[in-house]
Amino acid sequence: MYAGIDAGASATKAVIVNENEEIVSYAIVPSGINFKASSEEALEKALKKGGLIKQRVSYIVSTGYGRELVNANIVFSEITCISRGVNKLFPEVRTIIDVGGQDSKAIRVDSNGRVLDFAMNDKCAAGTGRFLEVMANILRKPIEELGLLHFKSLNPVKISSTCTVFAESEVISHISQGCKIEDVIAGLHYAIAERIFNMSSRIGLEKEVAFTGGVAKNPGFVEALSKRMRLNPILPKEPQIICAFGAALLAKRTYEKTKT
Ligand SMILES: Nc1ncnc2c1ncn2[C@@H]1O[C@H](COP(=O)(O)OP(=O)(O)OP(=O)(O)O)[C@@H](O)[C@H]1O
Ligand SMILES: [Mg+2]
Repeated sequence: MYAGIDAGASATKAVIVNENEEIVSYAIVPSGINFKASSEEALEKALKKGGLIKQRVSYIVSTGYGRELVNANIVFSEITCISRGVNKLFPEVRTIIDVGGQDSKAIRVDSNGRVLDFAMNDKCAAGTGRFLEVMANILRKPIEELGLLHFKSLNPVKISSTCTVFAESEVISHISQGCKIEDVIAGLHYAIAERIFNMSSRIGLEKEVAFTGGVAKNPGFVEALSKRMRLNPILPKEPQIICAFGAALLAKRTYEKTKT
């Protein structure tokens, strides 16, 4: 078995694959402030879920924001791991949009999953999961409910601020003026979609396009970004673990190389 651990800014993901590069088990835990602890917890949870012991794991690759703090054999970049993971599942994909808790990335890959170009926003919360978390918090809605509320909206409001702090004031003002919460939520999804569309336009949007990262679990965001990009994206069943899956595939390949 081989493990990939993606110590992301929000969540730590562990994926275990077998010799056939199939996912045997996985776990997602909050990262908190201690990446060493969260990565151990994620791996233990994944092992337990799969009925495995740690001794079965021959090689571990770590990636993500806290990757240097994870107990692993080798480290790879998130861009490399996401590209590997997507290429294994969807070799037809040429552009990947990954939206996580703290940054967003657009990656262009070739048919072998090699990275051709990428763009990244890690300077500003707008355009990341953090933006939606801040807004969900002031609207007192769980992040998992934003998607459902989005589809109730008939008149999405226009959020014009490109800054999270100013957008927060705008949301409060819309609500106090009597706007429906679903219209505000849909407006927020279109605002974040606009930011991500602008970032991905820098590298070009070659089809097929896949969405990954935890924010791709929000169907409202997926609809807003698909509409803005005018395309039907490929959506993995569990988009949040794709980076860790790619890391696990790289663990297998790196291990095999060290053996020859
Ligand atoms: N079911 C869900 N519905 C909506 N949003 C979700 C859901 N699950 C997770 N998210 C959002 O996904 C984000 C975390 O995604 P992910 O795990 O890809 O980020 P990360 O890898 O920790 O961060 P980064 O890549 O920026 O370091 C959070 O903002 C969280 O609110
Ligand atoms: Mg991530």
